[in-house]
Amino acid sequence: MRKKVTIVGAGNVGATAAHWIAAKELADVVLIDVVEGIPQGKGLDLLEAMPIEKRDSHITGTNDYADTANSDIVVITAGIPRKPGMSRDDLLATNYKIMSDVVGKVVAVSPNCIIIVVSNPLDAMAQAAFRQAKFPRNRVIGMAGVLDSARFRTFIAEELKVSVENVTAFVLGGHGDTMVPLPRFSTVAGIPITELMPAERIEALVQRTRDGGAEIVKHLKTGSAYYAPSAAAVEMVEAILKDKKKILPCAVYLEGEYGIDGYFVGVPCKLGKGGLEQIVEIKLTKEEDAALKKSAEAVKELCAVIGV
Ligand code: NAI
Ligand code: 2OP
Repeated sequence: MRKKVTIVGAGNVGATAAHWIAAKELADVVLIDVVEGIPQGKGLDLLEAMPIEKRDSHITGTNDYADTANSDIVVITAGIPRKPGMSRDDLLATNYKIMSDVVGKVVAVSPNCIIIVVSNPLDAMAQAAFRQAKFPRNRVIGMAGVLDSARFRTFIAEELKVSVENVTAFVLGGHGDTMVPLPRFSTVAGIPITELMPAERIEALVQRTRDGGAEIVKHLKTGSAYYAPSAAAVEMVEAILKDKKKILPCAVYLEGEYGIDGYFVGVPCKLGKGGLEQIVEIKLTKEEDAALKKSAEAVKELCAVIGV
């Protein structure tokens, strides 16, 4: 039997994530949204692309959580995106209400699923979902680090004119202005970029990565990025469904790792069929550690506002 992935929110990120999943034939997909017609229309349209793509993923759209029952993975993208001039944190109150509405309904029909949270502000929304779902921490994971690292990788590849396939990069911390790109652990064919670029160019790419979401919002004006974010969420889905044991930067609930206790923060994680299977602890320099702690403080402040 094919695996079942539900995507909550059939907007830009949700529908594009469904597209990637179906194109890779990873699972059957249920798209669900509060707006009537949108998930049904997008779901049917995508289903009708399958003969052309030679894929047998089945895609359905619905407004009824009964149709999402027994999902293996639920990706939550429901919520408002930011517009120019807004920070991710400006979405807090609205998206917390939406998250509270969604998680209860998801969990009632898919008690064994793994939840991947995408809605912003990411770390606080993941924490809200975790508190409400009452799942063990291995089954609630936030997507941000894969996206932020992909942006950093893109900029490194463009700067050095090398294949993106040669570039690995790590961005830890919260998904916001305090995120922590780690040049020391970012490499081209295994060579740290600190050996390949002057410090000021690295700093420029680091800053562009921090501003990566805002850069897209500035272009689009009506919403935020969705191709790279949905591809990032689907990389996590694939790692779990195929039990790949893949190390990816994800936002997870820390219980003392990296000296942080009781908050979702982005750290290197091993993803496999159990969801979060291991948190990989690497030794950070004093400066990196301070930046990660500062990022965790920013997450803590947002969580305090909504009481999660
Ligand atoms: P969008 O506006 O295109 O789609 C959001 C969808 O959620 C809409 O179709 C809306 O009807 C639906 N929705 C609202 N309330 C709902 C509810 N209670 N139940 C089910 N569906 C509901 O927005 P987009 O661009 O898809 O972004 C979605 C969220 O993902 C935003 O909060 C955005 O900030 C966040 N995001 C996070 C990223 C990350 O790295 N973690 C990257 C990109 C986006
Ligand atoms: C991004 O980084 C909006 O969080 C989203 O593009």
